Amino acid sequence: MDFVAIVFICLLSLSSVEASSNIGVNYGVLGNNLPSPYRSIELLTAMKAGRVKIYDANPDILRLLATTNLKVSIMIPNHEISGIAANQSIADEWVRNNILPYYEKTLIRYLLVGNEVLSYNTEQGHRMWHDLVPAMRSIKRALNSQNIRGIKIGTPLAMDVLQTTFPPSSGTFRSDIRDSVILPMLKFLDETNSFFFIDAYPYFPWSQDPKNINLDFALFRGNYTTQDPGSGLIYRNLLDQMLDSIIFAMSKLGYSNIKLVISETGWPNSGDIEETGANIFNAATYNRNLIQRMTTKPPIGTPARPGVPIPTFIFSLFDENQKSGPGTERHWGLLHTDGTPVYDLDLTGKKSMTEYAPLPVPKNNVPYKGKVWCVAANGANEMELSAALSYACSVANMTCEALSPGNECYEPVSVRNHASYVFSTYWAKFKSNGATCFFNGLAVETTRDPSRASCKFPSVTI
Ligand SMILES: *[C@@H]1O[C@H](CO)[C@@H](O)[C@H](O)[C@H]1NC(C)=O
Ligand SMILES: *[C@@H]1O[C@H](CO)[C@@H](O)[C@H](O)[C@H]1NC(C)=O
Ligand SMILES: *[C@@H]1O[C@H](CO)[C@@H](O)[C@H](O)[C@H]1NC(C)=O
Repeated sequence: MDFVAIVFICLLSLSSVEASSNIGVNYGVLGNNLPSPYRSIELLTAMKAGRVKIYDANPDILRLLATTNLKVSIMIPNHEISGIAANQSIADEWVRNNILPYYEKTLIRYLLVGNEVLSYNTEQGHRMWHDLVPAMRSIKRALNSQNIRGIKIGTPLAMDVLQTTFPPSSGTFRSDIRDSVILPMLKFLDETNSFFFIDAYPYFPWSQDPKNINLDFALFRGNYTTQDPGSGLIYRNLLDQMLDSIIFAMSKLGYSNIKLVISETGWPNSGDIEETGANIFNAATYNRNLIQRMTTKPPIGTPARPGVPIPTFIFSLFDENQKSGPGTERHWGLLHTDGTPVYDLDLTGKKSMTEYAPLPVPKNNVPYKGKVWCVAANGANEMELSAALSYACSVANMTCEALSPGNECYEPVSVRNHASYVFSTYWAKFKSNGATCFFNGLAVETTRDPSRASCKFPSVTI
C-alpha cells in the first residue's frame, strides 16, 4: 500500500470517528406508541448518538445494533439479581444467552446489573442490596470464563445513595448501605477498572427548592461562582457539585480514582401544572449546554477531577407515555413518538448556541400558585373512564355519594362528567399520600374550575 493510500484511509477512519458523538442516549420503551426498534435505532444513528443504553438485553434490539457503530450498554433487570447472586450457573447462563450471540458484532461495552437498586427501601429491596455485589462478581466470572474482556460491569445508582451532598466536599454515602454494599462495590469497581454509574439530575434538587437554587446554575447558565468552603473548589453549575459529592464520598472510603459515568441525566420538556421548570426551553438549554461540556476537547471534567472525561447518557430518546407518577415522568424525551425532535439538539456539540433557532419562552419557571382540578382527558375512552370511576369510588375513604341519582353532582349524567368529579375528589384526597392526576392517561390537570352551581368539585391548592 502506498503512502497516499494510507493517508487516505487514516482520513476516512478519522472522519467516521468524528461523525458520531461520544454522547449516549437512554432508549426506554415504556410507551404504547413508540416507533419500532428498527426505526428507533435509525433515529439514534441519524442523531449521531455515539452510545445507547437499554434497560434489558432485548434480543431484537441487540441484533439490530450489530449493524451500527453505537457503543451499547445493556442491563440485567432487578428481579434477576438474586438468582444470579445465588447460583453461578444462572450467571453463566445469562451471559451465554444475552451476550454471546451478539458480542461479535454488537459493540456491548457496559453491562449494568440492576437499575437504582439502592433506592428500593423495602424488604424485597434489601434482599437485592445484599445480592447486588455478589451478582456483579458472578457475572464477571461468567464473562471471564467466556474470555470476554471488553465489557465493564457496573450498576447505575441514584443520588439518594448519598446522605450528604452539599457542599460537595461533605459528600458521604448513606450509613445503611455504606459498609454493607458500597464498600464491597467500590472494591469490585476498582479491581475491575470499571466505573461508578450515577444517575444525576440537577432538575430534581432544583425543582424541590427553586427559591434557593438558581435556575441558571442548574442549566449551566450561571454567570457566577460558588466556593466549597471545605475544599476551596469553585463551582459554576449544579451538575458538577452533584458529581463531586460522589467523588468526595468515594474518596472517604479510600477509593479516590474510580471514574464516573453519567448513566442518566436530562431535563423534562413538560409536566404537571405544579412541576415548575419542566418545559422545552429549560430542557433544550440543559441538554445543549451539557453536550457542549461533555464533548469539549480536551475534556473539562469537574472541579475535583479536572480533565477527566465522563461518558454521559441523556435520558431519554422518547417521551414514554406508560410511565406512572407525575407528568414529568412521561416527558423526558428528545423525540416525539413520530420521530420528530421535541427541540433541536446537536449531540455532537458542534453547533454553537447562537446557531439554534429561538426557543419558546418558558411559562412555568416560577412556581404556580392557585387551585388545580383533575378532570377526564379529552378523547379518553368511555369504557376505561367508567372502569377508573368505579375503581376510584371503591377505594377506602372515598365517597361518590354526590353522584347518586338525585344528589348534587348527578346531572349532567355522563361518564365524562362523573369521572371528572371522581378524579378531582380522589386527587384532592390522596395527593398528600403521593397520588397523581394521571389514572393511566385518562386524567389531566386543569386550572379552570369545572364546578357547577349545584356541584362543587374538590381542588388541590398549590
Ligand atoms: C443452579 O442453577 C442451575 C441451572 O438453572 C440448576 O440446574 C441447579 O440446580 C442450581 N443449583 C442450585 C444449588 O440451586
Ligand atoms: C449575569 O448576572 C447579572 C447579575 O445577576 C445579570 O444582571 C446578568 O443579566 C447576567 N448575565 C447573563 C449573561 O446571564
Ligand atoms: C381513612 O381515614 C382514616 C381516618 O381519617 C385514616 O386513619 C385512614 O388512614 C384512611 N385510609 C386511607 C386509605 O387513606
